[in-house]
Amino acid sequence: MRLQIFDNHETLSRATADILLRTVRENPRSSIIIATGSTPTLAYQLWVQDLLRQDIPTDELMIIKLDEWGGLPMDHPSTCETYIQKHIIQPLSLRPDQVISFTSVAADPAAECDRVYRAISALPSIDCCVLGIGKNGHLGFNEPNTTWSTVPHVAKLSITSLGHAMLQGDSRDVQYGLTLGLDTISIAKSILALASGSEKTAIVEQALRGPVTPQCPASILQTLPQSIVYLDTKAAERITS
Ligand code: F6R
Repeated sequence: MRLQIFDNHETLSRATADILLRTVRENPRSSIIIATGSTPTLAYQLWVQDLLRQDIPTDELMIIKLDEWGGLPMDHPSTCETYIQKHIIQPLSLRPDQVISFTSVAADPAAECDRVYRAISALPSIDCCVLGIGKNGHLGFNEPNTTWSTVPHVAKLSITSLGHAMLQGDSRDVQYGLTLGLDTISIAKSILALASGSEKTAIVEQALRGPVTPQCPASILQTLPQSIVYLDTKAAERITS
């Protein structure tokens, strides 16, 4: 695990966008796992802006959605789908076959996870994975105290996750989570885990300086040599002082 601390969210986002840009420039057929949430949004905006301005081809890029809120209609403003459509898919005009994405309204959520698993298994590689460290230490919806070793699966969401700002205080229709598992995340050639702001200070200390344990899924980052953790000074406060 490598760690880098930035002065603020803007510089962290710029550095994240640069890694994503380099990934696509070096391999236009890259497959990239995309977390949603507030932390990576500016990075995605900068990345997309640069791809378009520099005219970098994206017609062979594959985007893999990390997770989804099960039970919300796909076009609900809070879904991860709405987020990736708005920030990545539509601005880059990606085709549906360039996106591997859980549906939020599957009749059989376990079968939907199998479908996503098969689609990912058919890819030549996963080149990069962007993650946000959750307030409770989750990565995707790999929640505390669940099994380490997982492929795409249906997750029972914690109270903390159901309070995620993406749901804007309204989690009534969310019945479960759909998420890539830690095994799937771990096969990415490069894993970029982000945290910014003081609400992440305590969990960042636990994840990066505490024991490696399923009680804090983000602690798995300590064991992954290809992981890079980008923090701003607020999130890093307890590991630098
Ligand atoms: C969302 C996701 C979550 C978030 C995490 C951090 O797709 O996978 O694990 O990355 O909860 O969210 P923010 O960045 O909003 O603090």
